[in-house]
Amino acid sequence: MVLASSNALAHLKTYSSKDGLDVKKLIDSANFGGLTYNDFLVLPGLINFPSHEVRLDTKLTKKITLKAPFVSSPMDTVTEENMAIHMALLGGIGILHHNCTAEEQADMVRKVKKYENGFINDPIVIAPSTPVGDVKKMKSLLGFTSFPVTESGKVGGKLVGIVTSRDVQFHDDDKSPVSEVMTKDLIVGQQGIDLSKGNELLRASKKGKLPIVDKAGNLVSMISLTDLQKNQAYPDASKSFDSKQLLCGAAIGTIPADRERLDKLVEAGLDVVVIDSSNGSSLFQLDMIKWIKSKYPELQIIGGNVVTREQAALLIDAGADGLRIGMGSGSICITQEVMACGRPQGTAVYNVTEFANQFGVPCIADGGISNIGHITKALALGSSCVMMGGLLAGTAETPGDYFYRDGKRLKSYRGMGSIDAMQQTSTNANASTSRYFSESDKVFVAQGVSGSVVDKGSITKFVPYLYNGLQHSLQDIGVSSLDNLRQGVDNGEVRFEFRTASAQFEGGVHGLHSYEKKLHN
Ligand code: IMP
Repeated sequence: MVLASSNALAHLKTYSSKDGLDVKKLIDSANFGGLTYNDFLVLPGLINFPSHEVRLDTKLTKKITLKAPFVSSPMDTVTEENMAIHMALLGGIGILHHNCTAEEQADMVRKVKKYENGFINDPIVIAPSTPVGDVKKMKSLLGFTSFPVTESGKVGGKLVGIVTSRDVQFHDDDKSPVSEVMTKDLIVGQQGIDLSKGNELLRASKKGKLPIVDKAGNLVSMISLTDLQKNQAYPDASKSFDSKQLLCGAAIGTIPADRERLDKLVEAGLDVVVIDSSNGSSLFQLDMIKWIKSKYPELQIIGGNVVTREQAALLIDAGADGLRIGMGSGSICITQEVMACGRPQGTAVYNVTEFANQFGVPCIADGGISNIGHITKALALGSSCVMMGGLLAGTAETPGDYFYRDGKRLKSYRGMGSIDAMQQTSTNANASTSRYFSESDKVFVAQGVSGSVVDKGSITKFVPYLYNGLQHSLQDIGVSSLDNLRQGVDNGEVRFEFRTASAQFEGGVHGLHSYEKKLHN
């Protein structure tokens, strides 16, 4: 019998269950095994809204909400101040690594907190005695054409002049000091000036740079015309409510010296601390969380890493405001191979978030995110944010320089448990040591590798690509926000399917002689 084609929806109601699997059945479908992101798909839903309307705001911790669910990992080839500034500008957050001294890490926090879009807070400054020849060299080395001159030769010193390429260009005596050639009659902006006022002054002065000074005439920052022209608006920037400064996170370990480290980070303005441990369920971490909660009750704490409910329960009871999930899923990671410990990331994310969300503790899915689909799946399984190392590595904002190999432009990317990273830690008495080895270790046991990744350009393009891609992905699922995704998964409306090995093959590019995988323009 053929049914009337206008009755298909009514007929669907006679089916005893919806097509596909609910999330619990999906996890159970692994038959005692664990699921990775590649092992399943989300079934499509009804599209009745444009993708640009999809909202991606989400919780990072109990008290911090972000406009985008993106977190950069505390790794020394991923997050220093430049990455943290740009992640926050783009609606996510960066977690500064701690493979450095406490002072260096606090300095990075300070730079993120003091950052104001459009203002250069650490301009290259010279002293009046700097020889003209040095300025000529700096110009060709750095590409800048003008430098402020202060009495001390540093930011914070009294501004006495500005020297431009025009001042030194036709000055033949390279040994004479710049004080002889610099412009002393200066137009300056006062500290606290907003960007549009600064812009007006800059244009009126017909100069390329506007120094900003405090009441005593000390240089505090600078506005540059070229930067202003390139300046983007960042309406989704992650900022503290009160100070309007960018949000900043930083990682610490669990050894006693990390308490002093944290004091310095908090003094520099830290908003959220991540306790960085490959296995978060340790007495050291529980003690650390309790200590932080009693000393800094306002500071948000992300505990981890965890992959089981039991581990999560310990950290939640100790007072964690957020959890970081993952053990062994990172792209540079050999933990599962070496330690025999860990869990496939899909199963870990589901089991921990299903438990932690009941206590209102948001979770970050950390590691193993290598494309937009993985982000969607991590969020669909219950996480509130994703943490990325490898996916952001190779962008311009990561630490380190590009180099060429095999005709490709590359940057280093290494695990924090790689021999290279641990060696750097062990040679720096003040670096934080606790994630992958203890001070008593005589032999390093690597849990990570050291490698390289190709140039991905700037995250000012890459993160918007992830953002737009995620909006499209949610639109395909038929949900218009991350909250709706979570509700849909919880009430069984959002459906899943297990993916066999041949289904994974079918879902990838296949049957072509050659192709180029270009992900965005
Ligand atoms: P990715 O995004 O897949 O590259 O994974 C990054 C994550 O791997 C980090 O956020 C850490 O949780 C984890 N990780 C970093 N270094 C190591 C390591 O040396 N061994 C194991 N896991 C690591």
